[in-house]
Amino acid sequence: MVTIETPRSPRNRKSAQREKQAWLFMRASGVVLIVLIFGHLFINLFSGNGIKAIDFAFVAGKWANPLWKIWDTLMLWLALIHGTNGMRTLVNDYTQREGIRKFLNIALWTICIALIILGTLVTTTFDPCPDTSVASALPQFCK
Ligand code: HEM
Repeated sequence: MVTIETPRSPRNRKSAQREKQAWLFMRASGVVLIVLIFGHLFINLFSGNGIKAIDFAFVAGKWANPLWKIWDTLMLWLALIHGTNGMRTLVNDYTQREGIRKFLNIALWTICIALIILGTLVTTTFDPCPDTSVASALPQFCK
């Protein structure tokens, strides 16, 4: 028979409170992610000409509308924070040595923050007409 160890009790009250908030965040962000991800898939793959229509010009056209910039930035932030927090749960559940647990959690959040900064830079500084030498790949309105 498999015996499951009794879960460790929280280290202190403050950490129990934080774990409850993280638990709630996973559920709330999951619900919002369903809307964001399925909305994204529907618009990109279903409502237009499918995967073949997706190129630089498609993204440039989409991001001309601030709604899609906000949509995509929010999806990036939520997926990264949700995914990283989920991995933090796995690390806390499975690591045995405190030093390794701390190292992995610091690595996870460092990568998460770096990707949020890079991704947000892309969505906020995106230029639809970057270089006229590649004019054929650019959207109509750049010519
Ligand atoms: C359709 C959107 C999504 C929904 C509804 C959703 C929902 C959830 C929920 C409710 C949990 C908590 C499970 C638990 O505590 O037992 C969870 C955990 C997790 N999620 Fe998501 N999620 C979604 C998208 C994502 C995405 C895009 C990623 C990756 C970037 C991700 C990565 C994770 C990870 C790593 C965990 C931890 C797994 C574990 O504890 O066993 N999820 N998700």
